[in-house]
Amino acid sequence: MQKVNSKESYQPFPYPLNGLSRLVLHQFRNYQSLDVSLQRDCIVLTGANGAGKTNILEAISFLSPGRGLRSIKLSQVTNLKILNQKVPVPPSWAIAATIERENDLIELGTRLDYTATGSERRLVKINGQVAKSQALLTNWISITWVTPQMDQLFLEGSSGRRKFIDRLVYAIDPLHAERLHRYDHHMKERAHLLREGRYDPAWVSTLERKLAEDGVAITVARQELAEYLENAQHTEKDYPFPQFQAEMKGEVEKWLENHPALAAEDIYAEKLCMVRAQDAETGGAFVGPHRSDFCVHHLAKQLPAEVCSTGEQKMLLLALTLAFTKVQREYSSCPAILLLDDVAAHLDDQHRQVLFQEICKPVRGPMSEDSRKGHIQVWMTGTDKSMFQNLNDQAQFLTVHNATLKEDF
Ligand SMILES: Nc1ncnc2c1ncn2[C@@H]1O[C@H](COP(=O)(O)OP(=O)(O)OP(=O)(O)O)[C@@H](O)[C@H]1O
Ligand SMILES: [Mg+2]
Repeated sequence: MQKVNSKESYQPFPYPLNGLSRLVLHQFRNYQSLDVSLQRDCIVLTGANGAGKTNILEAISFLSPGRGLRSIKLSQVTNLKILNQKVPVPPSWAIAATIERENDLIELGTRLDYTATGSERRLVKINGQVAKSQALLTNWISITWVTPQMDQLFLEGSSGRRKFIDRLVYAIDPLHAERLHRYDHHMKERAHLLREGRYDPAWVSTLERKLAEDGVAITVARQELAEYLENAQHTEKDYPFPQFQAEMKGEVEKWLENHPALAAEDIYAEKLCMVRAQDAETGGAFVGPHRSDFCVHHLAKQLPAEVCSTGEQKMLLLALTLAFTKVQREYSSCPAILLLDDVAAHLDDQHRQVLFQEICKPVRGPMSEDSRKGHIQVWMTGTDKSMFQNLNDQAQFLTVHNATLKEDF
């Protein structure tokens, strides 16, 4: 196993890390095995195209619920060399991480697992115990990312934007992931019963009531986050990232405009009952937060994000991300990680410097209880190390070459 560990080479940090201090990969993408120690809250990975930079960020993204930053089928990230070997048991990848949180150590692990019937699932361990669901990861760490694929965020379907805002909500409301998980589970159960045609109406009503309760809570949490983002953004005239309006749009949102949450739940449950026949044919459900959209507007241009230019959309996404880091510092109490894949290279000097200043704020001297709250560890990738030269005394630089990592001082 490749070990990258040079603790002695770094000046000790004047405060606990509050982020990943160790990452171990096993048969993940182009990594057979890797064990790397982290000493900073700003980590820069540089290396040639195809070296394995994004794969590391993807591995970290699996420490949050879902299918990682590439949103991929679980077995597709298994190292292909291993996968192609003929072995009796299907090979699986694994990721382990140590998180330093103030003076505590949290051990998280996740790996591909197969059920008795051979279907794929993700097993999650938290401090050595198998977790009931991957949604529980959000109790321990919040992970968000900006990747080149997200250049399409405002152009593609609404599902990507819902996932985006949901990931942001996880950071300030750890129960959100469980709510979404439960909502999805009940939705599938209702769809199954309706499809079968013979069901107990009382049980379907119970499911619809649960969907309404979770559905309204999900909507309110997303609306709240959108409002926090708007309020947290910079409004100074010379700020280089664009100002935005951000809001959730959908049927449940409309009910909430004119009704308190409890009344919205009643309307929602009634509506679900009314559309049973329709839902039996189409599957899923005709109404609900799974149909809402996260809508962003470019204020100066007075245009919705989807009609802005490619560059403007990129800047809007970064403006949202920067506003989010402020929200996180204010409201989140668990360690937070921000993954910026290939972001720096596409910015001019001014934008890059503002980005670095905001996300890698150097902390001098011991941190107070308050400033430690919502502290963010940032991981950035790029092919050219010179892009990151302003971070020389703050960041840990790692060179990636052919699935091996080297400390770069
Ligand atoms: N399942 C897999 N098994 C083995 N190798 C894989 C697997 N999936 C992807 N790879 C390879 O891993 C290598 C590194 O990919 P990665 O996306 O991390 O590169 P990168 O350093 O981010 O490059 P770029 O600068 O072009 O974005 C690529 O050559 C890719 O083909
Ligand atoms: Mg990459």
